[in-house]
Amino acid sequence: MLWLPARCLLRPPRRPLPAPPRRGSSGPGRRWLLSTPIFYVNGPPHIGHLYSALLADALHRHRALLGPGPGRLATGTDEHGLKIQQAAAAAGTAPSELCAHVSGLFRDLFSQAAVSFTDFIRTTEPRHRRAVQCFWAALQGRGLLYKDFYEGWYCTPDECFLTEAQITERPDAQGRPCKVSLESGHQVHWTKEENYMFKLSEFQEPLRKWLQGNRHVISPEPFYQVVLRWLEEDLPDLSVSRERSRLQWGIPVPGDSTQTIYVWVDALVNYLTVAGYPDAHHAWWPAAHHVVGKDILKFHAIYWPALLMAVGLDPPEQIYVHSHWTVCGQKMSKSLGNVVDPVACFKQYTVDGFRYFLLRQGVPERDCDYYEEKVIKLVNSELADALGGLLNRCTAPSINPSGIYPHFSESCFRKGSEHMDVEASCRALAEDYELVASVDRLPFQVTDYCEHFQIYKALESVVACVRQTNGFFQRHAPWKLCRDNPAEKCWLDTVLHVTLECLRIYGILLQPVIPATADKLLSRLSIKPEERAFTDLTFLPRYHGKPCPFEGRKLGPDMGALFPRLETARRRQMEIKGLRP
Ligand code: MSP
Repeated sequence: MLWLPARCLLRPPRRPLPAPPRRGSSGPGRRWLLSTPIFYVNGPPHIGHLYSALLADALHRHRALLGPGPGRLATGTDEHGLKIQQAAAAAGTAPSELCAHVSGLFRDLFSQAAVSFTDFIRTTEPRHRRAVQCFWAALQGRGLLYKDFYEGWYCTPDECFLTEAQITERPDAQGRPCKVSLESGHQVHWTKEENYMFKLSEFQEPLRKWLQGNRHVISPEPFYQVVLRWLEEDLPDLSVSRERSRLQWGIPVPGDSTQTIYVWVDALVNYLTVAGYPDAHHAWWPAAHHVVGKDILKFHAIYWPALLMAVGLDPPEQIYVHSHWTVCGQKMSKSLGNVVDPVACFKQYTVDGFRYFLLRQGVPERDCDYYEEKVIKLVNSELADALGGLLNRCTAPSINPSGIYPHFSESCFRKGSEHMDVEASCRALAEDYELVASVDRLPFQVTDYCEHFQIYKALESVVACVRQTNGFFQRHAPWKLCRDNPAEKCWLDTVLHVTLECLRIYGILLQPVIPATADKLLSRLSIKPEERAFTDLTFLPRYHGKPCPFEGRKLGPDMGALFPRLETARRRQMEIKGLRP
């Protein structure tokens, strides 16, 4: 028996192509109706809003990669309520004008950010007004509404009533004591009026049962626990209308012109409106998957499922919860003047650069901090240097003068034990087999992470593979191999082939996060649009004894850098002025 160096013994496990994800609702062939929250139009969009939309977009794009199951992504604007009425009054404009203007800003931002929404709903649209009024009639028809005098603290910025235990006292800007919400810090006012009440208390037990029977319905898990704890406390009935004399900017209660429907009931029903309620929602409901920020969890995980149960509909299939972005360690707020404009970020970091940053650094379980240097460091190191540098190195004309997808040679990179008798020609090392195993596994990992709403982890695993591939390339230094020597040429082509194959897999998997950059990468590798789905993720087919359709193909013509290196605004300014930073 031949002596074999230990480095040759590590072999990649062979697995069939990724199976559909585990949880039934989102696999190929199943419907999904993903949604972002709908955004208040009292101010322009900021990076927190963009983050909510990008998370939903990345999930939507990832699922589309898995197969042609019908999927939709809905977003839009939440335009009624006291908050908007007051913002319009303060701006000296009609609410409808303010709404049209700010809603347009959100729509434009999401288009620019490549958010692949299939519906953009405005709650001022007639289709929505009809849905809300039908929904109200269904609640009333089931005897779940009653009129009562209600008094309590109301927080207009959060559009919600709060109990005594949910408020505290703090000095305002002038040092006067004022009552604020414990959770958001926003000011509250004492309100007393006659309202319609929804019998929420009747749903405490059904809600508990629903959650206990669906342990994965709210993720990440800590938020599921939070909701269970809320349900251990008292669940009082919910005021679901406001006096019209106080709130005119909203949908009137059907048959009672003195009342306006509570903005949160109005807003939540948007998810049904986009599904086609009241006539055509059965094709889509309850395949609803909501992405929401932690501040609006109670509305989505308690009020909304209870309202749905009340009208005889199932609760949503999935609620994905994310935390918030702070800026240089501080909460983003108009009063602090630190609200970050996403359009300015696109200018500074490019759309894909900023998408990448938010999705790679955003951890749903905890708040994350934004500052310029952090974006630049991350994007330069992972997109410009690690990924872009790798593409640049392995496609450089000096190393690949014919500009084609090079051939793979099995004798240089033997599979399994076959290399025992041809040891001399097999150039692959143990680390190279580890690379093959890692990239083979990668699509499974990425899918699993995305299904668990851990997009940041999916990206982390891609980056780890990119670094491993750089190591492979560096280790074999193909620039030192001589093309005129047939044995060296075989190995040189194999090294390039393996590297391009790795890049092809990364390009396909990165499409949901950096669609333009992934397109550029795949086009450079000459991968056609119809070859970029999950079923095309068979890595290194030649190594596995299958034909490779890409071998011998002319590479794409764009030889420019995949991703430009970014610089800080200060450094750019100094360069413009001709000063050395
Ligand atoms: N209109 C309601 C949602 C109704 S959904 C039926 C609303 N709008 S919002 O404009 O205030 O917030 C929309 C989303 O942006 C929420 O998911 C919220 O968590 C998110 N964000 C607002 N500020 C944020 C950060 N600083 N960071 C991350 N997301 C943040 O609530």
